Amino acid sequence: MENADATTTTGSSPFHLAGAFAPVREERTDLDLEVLGEIPADLRGTYVRNGPNPRSGWSPAWFAAEGMLHGVRLEDGRARWYRNRWIAGTYANTSVIRHAGRMLALVEAMPPVEVTGDLETVGTYDFGGALGGPMTAHPKICPRTGELLFFSQGHSRPHLTYYRADAAGRVVHRAPIDVPAMTFMHDFAITERYVLFYVLPVLFGDARSAVPLRWDDDFPARIGVLPRDGGNEDVRWFDVAPCTISHTVNAFEDGNAIVLDAVRAPRIMAPHALHRLTFDLASGRAAESELDPRFLDFPRVHPAVVGARHRRAYTTELCDFRPDGGFSRTIARRLDLETGAAIAHDFGDGAMPGECAVAPRPGSAAEDDAWVILFVHRRDGAATELVILDAARFASPPVARARLPCRVPFGLHGEWLPDAEA
Ligand SMILES: [Fe+2]
Repeated sequence: MENADATTTTGSSPFHLAGAFAPVREERTDLDLEVLGEIPADLRGTYVRNGPNPRSGWSPAWFAAEGMLHGVRLEDGRARWYRNRWIAGTYANTSVIRHAGRMLALVEAMPPVEVTGDLETVGTYDFGGALGGPMTAHPKICPRTGELLFFSQGHSRPHLTYYRADAAGRVVHRAPIDVPAMTFMHDFAITERYVLFYVLPVLFGDARSAVPLRWDDDFPARIGVLPRDGGNEDVRWFDVAPCTISHTVNAFEDGNAIVLDAVRAPRIMAPHALHRLTFDLASGRAAESELDPRFLDFPRVHPAVVGARHRRAYTTELCDFRPDGGFSRTIARRLDLETGAAIAHDFGDGAMPGECAVAPRPGSAAEDDAWVILFVHRRDGAATELVILDAARFASPPVARARLPCRVPFGLHGEWLPDAEA
């Protein structure tokens, strides 16, 4: 493709190469961004977001491209810099985390790639040799223990391996899990004592196709519940209705049951809805109910409630979803899971808010005592803004907006990385 910039979008481009999704062609560094409003002085850190950005300007599918990180540094009430960098030579395009002082760019098909605070690539990171394969792009950091919990999948046995690293980043537990095949497991969940694996009827098909997934009616849909320090023999498998799960909202223990909120669909490449699944450890049975019928994806909760009971979730509603997986409009929504309310923040016509990151107020673990940080993209290809909302007043005007000097493509997952934890 000659030029995939949003300003030259044509009607024939696939969704992921046009409009707000179109890749950018350059790496840049811009200092001292223009800010409207007031950036809270105690927000000190970097917001970083990952996403596919093909170097050539063309890719066969949204997810099949080199990864690019976009970062905005907040300090002393100012937006000190914006940087974007390709993750050198790799497709680590899905998410970014920081654990034990190490910042990692992740994609589920590869081991992590370590990057610096300035978003420069260091290289592949394998936990000192302990990680023998790829790593999920959705590991969980336990807010109580500081542990990093994650899994690895492979086409050959064991198809699934569970890992737990301590707060210092050392792998202290590794357990192969016996599953019949490598399934499309994009996310998983943790509670205070358990981890949950989604072994669902979405398998890998023709690797040459843009989306190499296939649905298998004969493959049993099961969710495995495993004690955090357990092995294959400790897994309790729960039969669930055939489905696919894109992302976990959160999970927690409730007496003898485990409650999982997740973004779920009855088949692949279909609009998802928000469901609550409950696993009764006494009876061995699962139950399921719909929390919200809308396609509310990119769910995030306050980092202090990961694995514990949550009330709030921040989501991105995907509107006008198409069979090719594309969507052309998004709405930021904060959910109240006690009342069922789904409050929207209206960014106006032509805005495409991306995933919300939750930035706790330093020293507070209260769910509402936080800011919500996100990129707001423009469908017409205009420059992107970094927006800061008050979590407790989600629908109110932003606390601050930092104007980026350029467009950031609509991407995947972002994270607030406060200095205090570095
Ligand atoms: Fe994801």
